[in-house]
Amino acid sequence: LSTSPAMAAAIKKVTVIGGGLMGSGIAQVAAQTGHHVTIVEINEEAIKKAKNGIESSLQRVAKKLYKDKPGEGETFVKETLSRLSTSLDLKEAVKNTDLVVEAIVENLDLKHKLFLSIDSVAPEHTIFASNTSSLSIQDIASVTKRKDRFGGLHFFNPVPVMKLLEVIRIPETSDETYEKITAWGKALGKTTITCKDTPGFVVNRLLVPLLAEAVRMLERGDATARDIDTAMKLGAGHPMGPLELADYVGNDTTKFILDGWHQKYPNVELFKPVPLLNKLVEEGKLGLKSGEGFYKYDKGTK
Ligand code: 3HC
Repeated sequence: LSTSPAMAAAIKKVTVIGGGLMGSGIAQVAAQTGHHVTIVEINEEAIKKAKNGIESSLQRVAKKLYKDKPGEGETFVKETLSRLSTSLDLKEAVKNTDLVVEAIVENLDLKHKLFLSIDSVAPEHTIFASNTSSLSIQDIASVTKRKDRFGGLHFFNPVPVMKLLEVIRIPETSDETYEKITAWGKALGKTTITCKDTPGFVVNRLLVPLLAEAVRMLERGDATARDIDTAMKLGAGHPMGPLELADYVGNDTTKFILDGWHQKYPNVELFKPVPLLNKLVEEGKLGLKSGEGFYKYDKGTK
């Protein structure tokens, strides 16, 4: 695999579609590492939210990188922001870009619509990638005429902190595309791993069943939420316990992933619905973002 600077330099301009938690994190890290990035959103309010999130995260990064040099930290924030622009015009935003990273909601129809609409507008050389956590890259790519220039780039929350990037190849992904996106991931400062287009790739295939098993354990009354989390933090060295992490990821997200897999693979025990998880989602207890999940949070914790 070539990781030459030339390969990394092949991707200079990036368009991130979707400015939610993941999209803005991806855009931020790309801008931090010298790429010119455009975030595409559907309304001004979403753009404002993305910008605010990026600014406050950048302040945290600056504080860490330039502990004793606040002046340099300020310059870092300013320069990073100067490489970031926003757009409400999807087709316009992909006209002059090397890489499109899609980070919109996990809905196959919407992803199809999106990629269909940009396939004929984006330059020939532009690579398309999806940050999907649970859908098949092959399914998403199926509507485009550039499957050789299509791959999965799966980031982790919080994107500025988590060091991993999963690079997903479908059989049609060309070696050149694979090398370019892998080199780009490294240029972002991430460690990359490669996985086939399998459900959940590596991390979520192992993590989501762990979270589901922890909820089943709580449901059975084997241990309290606190004790399950303490056990995995102190007994397995995880930074967060599984229930804390479920709240962090969002119970709706975990349920959505499980439901999708259960539909596709009804015989896999680990993917079967978890009544307690479904109940929390029904009650709006989505975790950190809603103020309550397995635990209660102060408003504005995140
Ligand atoms: N932006 C910038 N910096 C951030 C940040 C953000 N959004 N969030 C945290 N940080 C920084 C903090 O500033 C802090 O920096 P410091 O070390 O200089 O003080 C550092 O990260 C640690 O943060 P905190 O002190 O606030 O808290 P913790 O030490 O508990 O770390 C954590 C927080 C990094 C989230 C850690 O608990 C962790 O790694 N948790 C597990 C997260 C995980 O598993 N993520 C994957 C979820 S699955 C996923 O994303 C896939 C999807 O498809 C579902």
